[in-house]
Amino acid sequence: MRSHYCGDMRSEHIEETVSLCGWVHRRRDHGGVIFLDVRDHTGIVQVVFDPDTQESFALADQMRNEFVVSIEGRVRARDPAAVNPKMPTGEIEVLGKDLTLLNRAKTPPFQLDEYSEAGEDVRLRYRYIDLRRQDMQQRLRLRSRASHYIRNFLDGHAFVDIETPILTKATPEGARDYLVPSRVHPGAFYALPQSPQIFKQLLMVSGFDRYYQIARCFRDEDLRADRQPEFTQIDIEAAFVDEAQIMTLAESMISGLFKELIDVSLPELPTLTYAEALQRFGTDRPDLRFGLELVDIDDLMANVEFKVFSGPANDPSCRVAALKLPGGDRLSRKNIDDLTRFVGIYGAKGLAYIKVNDRAAGSEGLQSPILKFLPPEVVEEVLTRVQAQDNDVVFFGADKASVVNDALGALRCKLAEDLNLYERVWAACWVVDFPMFEQTDAKAWTAVHHPFTHPSGSLEALREDPGQAGSRAYDMVINGYEVGGGSIRVHDPEWQKAIFNVLNLSDEQANAKFGFLLDALALGAPPHGGIAFGLDRLVMLLSGTKAIRDVIAFPKTQNASCLLTAAPSEVDPSQLKELGIKTNL
Ligand code: AMO
Ligand code: AMP
Repeated sequence: MRSHYCGDMRSEHIEETVSLCGWVHRRRDHGGVIFLDVRDHTGIVQVVFDPDTQESFALADQMRNEFVVSIEGRVRARDPAAVNPKMPTGEIEVLGKDLTLLNRAKTPPFQLDEYSEAGEDVRLRYRYIDLRRQDMQQRLRLRSRASHYIRNFLDGHAFVDIETPILTKATPEGARDYLVPSRVHPGAFYALPQSPQIFKQLLMVSGFDRYYQIARCFRDEDLRADRQPEFTQIDIEAAFVDEAQIMTLAESMISGLFKELIDVSLPELPTLTYAEALQRFGTDRPDLRFGLELVDIDDLMANVEFKVFSGPANDPSCRVAALKLPGGDRLSRKNIDDLTRFVGIYGAKGLAYIKVNDRAAGSEGLQSPILKFLPPEVVEEVLTRVQAQDNDVVFFGADKASVVNDALGALRCKLAEDLNLYERVWAACWVVDFPMFEQTDAKAWTAVHHPFTHPSGSLEALREDPGQAGSRAYDMVINGYEVGGGSIRVHDPEWQKAIFNVLNLSDEQANAKFGFLLDALALGAPPHGGIAFGLDRLVMLLSGTKAIRDVIAFPKTQNASCLLTAAPSEVDPSQLKELGIKTNL
């Protein structure tokens, strides 16, 4: 049906007769001639119909946006005055001879070039139209190139692509499971995999040595801009490896991906420990594109009368930290009030600050609501520790360590974004030495990564004091996003049972839930480890968008529904009956 794509037309095609197919992007009637901008996935070309070709001219007059057409015509140079340097095809136009209407279209719910005025709900309801837009086309094509690159890379490193079940048993990754009822086993359910974790470990027991899969994962969890209930992992596992081997391989894969897709050379990734990341950046996924580090001042505040600071300074579960914003005196009172409200979202009860107008002038040169509560020599020590200079603002957080970390960690990212403080475009790092467990409110332990991660230290130490156990896990973080995470796994059933015990699973319960894994570990499991990357998050970064929805063809909304198909939806009562299910609503 076609000889060329619309967006490929250039001066070199002048005088050629071409046939093009696509959608009418716009029709303009310029008294006597009709212009159709015709679009396909490569771009837009201008087609002119004049009354000489009577039949086509009459038909062109009836064209409307998004009609589907094919055109035969001759490429010619535009008048110099009509050249459009903004369009790749802007030097030429096609003089249309034959026009065929392949399909009509109702008035689209939004104009493609004015999509931004359409709400996202309309765009998602009519996603197939939204996907006609150039930037959506480009992002999904970039995604395709990303998975192609990854497959090539892993194939080249002797990894075997193996599919694992979607209808399976729960794999704990910290979210709720999506359950699927079984018709043949009334009352029994499959779980959709939160990740292929256990299966990829079983494949190592099977001797596959190196596995990968571009795998769909399902997690029923609260959604955010970088989270979807179903998403895609680049899932990797290898036998007889240590942390360094997996990290080196993963790093070269991701560096290669950035080079190949967007021609960015990532510098060698620095490694931070979990403790260091929290201390300096308030989070285990630090954005290292800018400075603004948190500085501990607990020791300086231990003896001040200001209880807001001295209380947390003397409590080991708390933290008092300072965050200096160089040149921050440009923030108005209202700005600071807004920031105080912002940290409130993270549980901070306030946001104390000191504005440094004239450091040499001592207290006179400072402006702050907390000066009256602090001895001048303590203030001086704080300013020295954060190396404050004239025109800086120093913010303070004092509370439970987790609140201070969350609040000041988010504050530094917000300041960087609002004031454009980025010193580099890309900053990737590894975070290592995670704790194995963390305590939930109910004094119960949960695994920080997942229960199959190998703890560091001895088995005795793990049993005695789980809170002190480290883990052999590693995360890769790019620009503040956790793009991948993995670990060396447990391959000894005794260790695995000990971990389940810490998680409050008795040996019987562990056997009921994970007996098949414990059996496999007892039948010649090699030492092994791996990693999984979030493909959606990587493509989101590579394509420069902040919404994971922008790189998924048919994503779900914040409340996990698909506006296009109206899923999830009620089902026929007979289906429920067959499954032995009664809803209780
Ligand atoms: P983890 O749970 O860290 O590890 O997941 C690996 C990576 O998957 C991405 N990711 C998500 N992306 C979009 N939406 C989500 N809801 C979502 N959840 C996770 C992140 C994350 O870094 N089995 C282990 C991996 C391993 O140990 O090998 C696992 O699933 O980018
Ligand atoms: P107050 O004594 O409550 O008026 O607080 C004095 C200053 O300390 C105000 O600027 C508050 O925003 C700030 N502040 C109060 N609680 C905290 C806290 N937990 N961490 C940091 N700053 C705080």
